[in-house]
Amino acid sequence: MAVLEGIPQLLRGFDAGQVAGIGAGGQMHGLVVLDGDGQVIRPAILWNDGRTAKEVEYLNGAVGQERLGRLTANIAFAGFTAPKLLWMRENEPERFARIRKIMLPKDYINYVLTGVHCTDYSDASGTLLLDVARRCWSGEMLDLCGVTEEQMPRLFESYEVVGTLRPEIAGRLGLPETVKVCAGAGDNAAAVGTGTVGEGACNISLGTSGTVFISSERFGADPHNALHAFAHADGHYHLMGCMLSAASCNKWLMEDIFGTEDYAGEQAKITSGRLGKNRVFFLPYLMGERSPINDTNARGAFIGLTMDTSRADMLQAVLEGVAFAIRDSVEVARSLGIDIRCSKICGGGARSPLWKTILANVLNIRLDVPASEQGPGMGGAMLAMTACGAYPTVEAACQKLVRTASAVEPDPELAALYEARYRQFKRLYPALKDIFAGLYG
Ligand code: XUL
Repeated sequence: MAVLEGIPQLLRGFDAGQVAGIGAGGQMHGLVVLDGDGQVIRPAILWNDGRTAKEVEYLNGAVGQERLGRLTANIAFAGFTAPKLLWMRENEPERFARIRKIMLPKDYINYVLTGVHCTDYSDASGTLLLDVARRCWSGEMLDLCGVTEEQMPRLFESYEVVGTLRPEIAGRLGLPETVKVCAGAGDNAAAVGTGTVGEGACNISLGTSGTVFISSERFGADPHNALHAFAHADGHYHLMGCMLSAASCNKWLMEDIFGTEDYAGEQAKITSGRLGKNRVFFLPYLMGERSPINDTNARGAFIGLTMDTSRADMLQAVLEGVAFAIRDSVEVARSLGIDIRCSKICGGGARSPLWKTILANVLNIRLDVPASEQGPGMGGAMLAMTACGAYPTVEAACQKLVRTASAVEPDPELAALYEARYRQFKRLYPALKDIFAGLYG
């Protein structure tokens, strides 16, 4: 496991005896299954895996969105864990019969470190097996998926200690056996590392996925079922929209299509006078899409190409298409009466000044850039600090440790140009939806 090699590298040049705790923020929704000997049964099925279209149709159709909403506060999306269990039961019955422990990717790290089979409420929310409002596994959902509570991990708050390092692991890592491991969080909830806690605080992650994360002190679900209603790592709740391909669209265009890694050089050709005026559009659904359209058949598309279209226009279209798709989730939140005036931003894409300018103007909000760009990694460490008693609450850790380094304000003229472009963008997917279904359905 890479973590076992990575931790000793991280410790180089530091006094390992000073380490008090470890906390992870991990990819959400992935299905990790172990047998009776604690061995992994099959490669994890990850958050962006779209193989479960049939199972999602069964859950949202035959079982029904209303019942799923009552049991879990959410409906089924292809990346969620419950449809993956149904898929495994149908397609890999022998392997399914061997499952003794079910967990999420970062829970496997904690399991190896401590021997404790555990998860936290934020990550458990994305399984579609947790009754999010009541903070317990849903017996009905477990029955539906053919699993039992004994197979499920024990639930903790993200900032609670689950155990200490197993002696052989402590020896291998060069750490004291007293090191505490906290439950940690799904990577988006671990965005407490950007200070996204409290009522209405928002974070946008421009990572492989693109997420809009809105923290809330109270439980609330989205009646349109476009945003996920999950538990937060601070002990409260959040709403989240997740697009499957955000910075990965940029990476695909740059590295696979243009054949370059010179991100800054390519973006330098997109000068400020071109912003808001691009007539090329890009639909960023390279892996199908989760929020808000929930369509595994959706695909990427360039629209509006001419003989004059340049490489810079296409790159600009990709950066803008991702920003427009993020706005789709922001619009759902706005339709629920959530007034988003500003947001934190993190993830690899947030390193690009151009992309931040486009996003701030497409959303017409201020974007605050935290000093640490490692949102979830920083959040994992803050959860461990809280678990070890360095801070009384996650909020207190945020107040003390998170600093805003810079902010990007929208420009009224540019925001108006992007408003018009967004209205055009919004008409494209509905026009192509049936064609996508015909190609891939
Ligand atoms: C969130 C989601 C992604 C992954 C990426 O629901 O699926 O953001 O967590 O690691």
